[in-house]
Amino acid sequence: QSRSSAASDVYKRQGTTFPIVRLKLGERFDTVFKNNLPVAGEVASIHWHGLRIPNDQDGVPYMTQQPIPPGAEGRYSFVPPDTGSFFFHTHCNSTEHFGRGLIGVLIVEGDEIKPPDAEYVLLMKDWRIGPDGAFLPFTTDEGAARGGTAGTIRSVNCEKSPVITVPSSADVRIRFYNLDPMRISEIGFENAEAAIIAVDGNGLPPIPLESWRMGTAMRLDVLLRTAPPGESVKLFDYFSKEPFVLAEFKSEGPAKRKGKFEATPLKVMPFAKLDEANAQRLPIEFSATPTGASVAKSSANSGIEIGPLCLAKRTFWAINKQAWPGHDHKDLGPPIAVLKSGQSYIFELKNTTPRSHPIHIHGHTFEVLNSSVRSLPRVRCDTVLLLPNERIEVGLVAGDPGKWMFHCHILEHQEAGMMGYIEVV
Ligand code: C2O
Ligand code: CU
Repeated sequence: QSRSSAASDVYKRQGTTFPIVRLKLGERFDTVFKNNLPVAGEVASIHWHGLRIPNDQDGVPYMTQQPIPPGAEGRYSFVPPDTGSFFFHTHCNSTEHFGRGLIGVLIVEGDEIKPPDAEYVLLMKDWRIGPDGAFLPFTTDEGAARGGTAGTIRSVNCEKSPVITVPSSADVRIRFYNLDPMRISEIGFENAEAAIIAVDGNGLPPIPLESWRMGTAMRLDVLLRTAPPGESVKLFDYFSKEPFVLAEFKSEGPAKRKGKFEATPLKVMPFAKLDEANAQRLPIEFSATPTGASVAKSSANSGIEIGPLCLAKRTFWAINKQAWPGHDHKDLGPPIAVLKSGQSYIFELKNTTPRSHPIHIHGHTFEVLNSSVRSLPRVRCDTVLLLPNERIEVGLVAGDPGKWMFHCHILEHQEAGMMGYIEVV
């Protein structure tokens, strides 16, 4: 429920809905969250993914707020400081919640210098549905200990490879969301000119889009020159075994544009500048655990007790050898690092596993500096995809004081130990 004056619309497709909340930059978002989850005793809170808002609005149960009990209401109120393509979700039992489609899109408008001819939101997400039409178990140990438990049916906006009608020879903006609980995709168009104009909502000098790899929770804003009248352009996922058609953009009506395709950049939001030369370096390792061994070691604690729903049931993964507290450890361990607000840091993210991990930080954006295995443009993002055995350096200027979650966004990895927090003082 939203009391905001902003326009909100609901994406309705085949009986499933994703809410889309739209705000204008500078506008306050004031909303009441009512916990109507049908499961007895299931507490919840809402996290606003990618938004740099005050810590007490971040929606992490026990850590930034007490969770909302069933039937009760809570309130969130904040002014997003940046434009962009964001989203929101609960922050415990998320594998099941994402699995059931409990996710919403939040867009902060106001970054366009020249308006595009049209705009589309594409939300990619698979569903774990059995032959009888019922949900399959959302998690399995085999999946959680590997790349995640895959869905059985692919979808974009709750349809299989939807055909979307677009204006002909037009420049359209596509906000693409990978909100699958585990899938990694690599998106690109066939026979079309397109440019990346934002990564995780952050505008950048346009980069011609060849293909772009996206882990779960990552977003990409693209400007596409659509096909001439009557023709269409296909959006592919090149990461699956066979290139998979995610969506088709079918052109209708007279051509809108004649000239050569040239993407207008979006406005870039002001961020504190990274002081690379004086930044403190912090090595952070993402590893697998010898199961259970690491659970026992989180004795030091922060004085925060975690409820049973937010505890790891088993631990397969760790950050700096520390797994998120297991079932007999209700207390949080110490932070991964303590940062000083306003200071620059370089995180040396090191993946020592044979799996990919989209690593997400709350309330901040990373600046991607370099990778040990590929050349990456210097983009800003809140989720960075670490490939198997890759090392990536990211810069960060510590933001508002508080405890900020830092975790893999493959939800089963997060819930099986690859989760921690950074404390900014
Ligand atoms: Cu979508 Cu803790 O995040
Ligand atoms: Cu992971």
